[in-house]
Amino acid sequence: MSTAVAGKGLEGVVAANSGICWIDGEAGVLSYRGIDIHELAEYSTFEETTYLLWNGLLPNELALREFTAQLTLARSLDHRIIDMLRSFPRTATPMEVLRTAVSALSFYDADEKDNSHDANVRKSYKLIAQIAMLVAIYDRLRKGKEIVPPDRSLSHGANFLWMLSGEIPSETAVKTMDMALVLHADHELNASTFAARVIAATLSDIHSAITGAIGAMKGPLHGGANEGVMRLLLTIDKEGADPAEYVRNMLAAKQKISGFGHRVYKTEDPRATHLRKISEQLGRDSGNTKWYDMSRAIELYINADKKLNANVDFYSASTYATLGIDIDLYTPVFVISRIAGWTAHVIEQLDDNRLIRPRAEYIGPVYPTHWIPMEERP
Ligand SMILES: CC(C)(COP(=O)(O)OP(=O)(O)OC[C@H]1O[C@@H](n2cnc3c(N)ncnc32)[C@H](O)[C@@H]1OP(=O)(O)O)[C@@H](O)C(=O)NCCC(=O)NCCS
Repeated sequence: MSTAVAGKGLEGVVAANSGICWIDGEAGVLSYRGIDIHELAEYSTFEETTYLLWNGLLPNELALREFTAQLTLARSLDHRIIDMLRSFPRTATPMEVLRTAVSALSFYDADEKDNSHDANVRKSYKLIAQIAMLVAIYDRLRKGKEIVPPDRSLSHGANFLWMLSGEIPSETAVKTMDMALVLHADHELNASTFAARVIAATLSDIHSAITGAIGAMKGPLHGGANEGVMRLLLTIDKEGADPAEYVRNMLAAKQKISGFGHRVYKTEDPRATHLRKISEQLGRDSGNTKWYDMSRAIELYINADKKLNANVDFYSASTYATLGIDIDLYTPVFVISRIAGWTAHVIEQLDDNRLIRPRAEYIGPVYPTHWIPMEERP
């Protein structure tokens, strides 16, 4: 048995074989099933990208129609899940609610005990549809608003915006949401996907794997960073501070700035390239470039001072703000997209499974250290 010791945080360790996502961190390349993210961002849709992630190739017209029909048919929640959402304290954050509610979805899934490939595909359609519904419904409930029923004629992104606001979203909002969903859909063995694969590899069920992934996604070093970015922008705005000066002081105090840095990318995160453009365009279209301008000033300063690049979370914050989405929904929106990748990875893991069980480098007291009676202990 090899006893190689991995670097802290498993940096640089290759921990799985996967045919889903390929990243070249030095060159700033991200691809799903070999297709560059720039092409997908420009030409694909969330539905088509999800098909690609799950099946390994682009669908033909009929396959995409059938796939989309399955996803829209899955837009349904057991009334007991909605009762549960009503019972949560209004102080519960949408990420906490999502983590708890996704776990409970298995109670009402006919395939709960079936861990076969086909059953996991069926459960994955439902998870994609239901997660978006949970986020929209909980947000309305906590605001004392009526639940908006799903509209099966709308795309996944458009239906989410519809269920959230109760208004038919503009073409720009739908296009923006769809592109954000494509850009966030997968990212190789990031922390939440790794968590999902570890759980799936024990032959637990897919709802457990996704619940664990949501827990990992919630942290500020991972998906929670997009909320951190917006809170920073709001603080700077409220204090009327100069953005570059503000982050200069934060860096001097050894604080980390949400939305910057990445374990894998040593150059610009290709997703940030698109989100920067979207954020700027949305700002111009709405006649308010405040969040974009502030973000850009911060980015230029941190690029120059720390040689750190913006990651996916940096410009998604100002993008979602301009779409009128509440801050604590930003990470749930990440989940609404990343569920596509998580499910692809869980299914891939189970198709060729082996328990994931690494070792730890022991740094505790020397063996043997002996048990001593209480009266002899210091
Ligand atoms: C993403 C992240 C967790 C990667 O972490 P990592 O690979 O372990 O990198 P480290 O935290 O060891 O950072 C390496 C160096 O860059 C600095 N650094 C990295 N990200 C930074 C940030 N956002 N702000 C300020 N400094 C940062 C670290 O302080 C460290 O400097 P040092 O060597 O002088 O101590 C880290 O960049 C981070 O915390 N970013 C902010 C949270 C975020 O945006 N997460 C979303 C990622 S998509």
